[in-house]
Amino acid sequence: MKRVMNVVGARPNFMKIAPIQRAMNQSNGALEPILVHTGQHYDKRMSKLFFEDLQLPEPDIYLGVGSGSHAEQTAKIMIDFEKVCLEKKPDMVLVVGDVNSTVACSLVASKLWIPVVHVEAGLRSFDRKMPEEVNRLVTDALSDYLFVTEKSGRENLLKEGVPESKIHFVGNVMIDSLTFFLEKAARSSILAELELEPQGYALVTLHRPSNVDDPDNLRKIVSAFAEIQKDIPIILPMHPRTRKNLERFGLQNLFSSLPNVRLLEPIGYLDFMQLTRNSRFVMTDSGGIQEETTYLGIPCLTLRENTERPVTVEVGTNVIVGTDTELIIQLARQILNGKWKEGQQPELWDGQAAQRIVDVLARS
Ligand code: UD1
Repeated sequence: MKRVMNVVGARPNFMKIAPIQRAMNQSNGALEPILVHTGQHYDKRMSKLFFEDLQLPEPDIYLGVGSGSHAEQTAKIMIDFEKVCLEKKPDMVLVVGDVNSTVACSLVASKLWIPVVHVEAGLRSFDRKMPEEVNRLVTDALSDYLFVTEKSGRENLLKEGVPESKIHFVGNVMIDSLTFFLEKAARSSILAELELEPQGYALVTLHRPSNVDDPDNLRKIVSAFAEIQKDIPIILPMHPRTRKNLERFGLQNLFSSLPNVRLLEPIGYLDFMQLTRNSRFVMTDSGGIQEETTYLGIPCLTLRENTERPVTVEVGTNVIVGTDTELIIQLARQILNGKWKEGQQPELWDGQAAQRIVDVLARS
């Protein structure tokens, strides 16, 4: 039996680890998962709610590191995670995605000669101003098993000199969670609670530092919402980073003159899936939501200058719009007029990615 330490820290990690934990628990004793939560995200609505929705067990180990600058947060995780590795002696450390917890735990494991498994390897925005891009590059450079979600991931890794034998194209664990929980999400009462009709609203998420740490970009995006909300209500569950920045910049009232924009607290996984699936379209700067909308066939405008998930644009329903107010308005109108690409589902996004990962690890 191999002991695999599965690491989560921030919101987008939870839906990626849930199917992996499940598949490991069903591996007939080949793999023994140990779940470590760094505590990078700690608010109930950013963490515990997701554990409940995704039927994740309580973490075996909780580090409780909390927020801080990049160096502080990464260093705190490393100090605590090193102790855990020395005590538990895992055979492998498995990290997902591209958050600070991902890179911190990869570094620790690598220096202790514990093989590193990276799920969602190889994605590249080619924009090193994104903290996630730095996290991806470092994590992939240190990893022994690199599981990729789309073909671009494989190509990027090969160009960076990663040996082909380390790369495995297995599909997308985020889509594993989506397919597993879609039926349950359909029973959510969120539409009724918010008095929304299917197809009767646009859904927005906004939290990237390039957007919400920059008051000019924030204003440009909200100016687009000001026009779009005249045609369709906008629902915006607000990330704590965004809320704190609005206060910091004295922009709390930015939305108050927009009667058709509804700000919500962050919401759980099942409710959010139900809101996404029933929306007319989505505007987001998230990575994962570009993938979920592609799978669901919901039009998506990505409020960034680039994407590390090009398959969502090439095959899916996603278009990169950046923060250009006029372009956002123009493309939103195009969607409302029914002129949008249909999109298809990317290869191997079939709900079986975690099983493929477990198969590779179990026979390694
Ligand atoms: C992190 C990830 C990002 C991911 C996002 C999803 C990194 C570098 N970034 O960004 O890739 O898309 O999570 O949510 O790892 N805060 C709270 N409560 C919480 C967590 C955070 O109030 O539970 C506030 C704190 O003020 C904190 C700020 O949000 O300083 C930012 O949190 P942090 O973990 O540093 O990065 P995110 O912006 O959440």
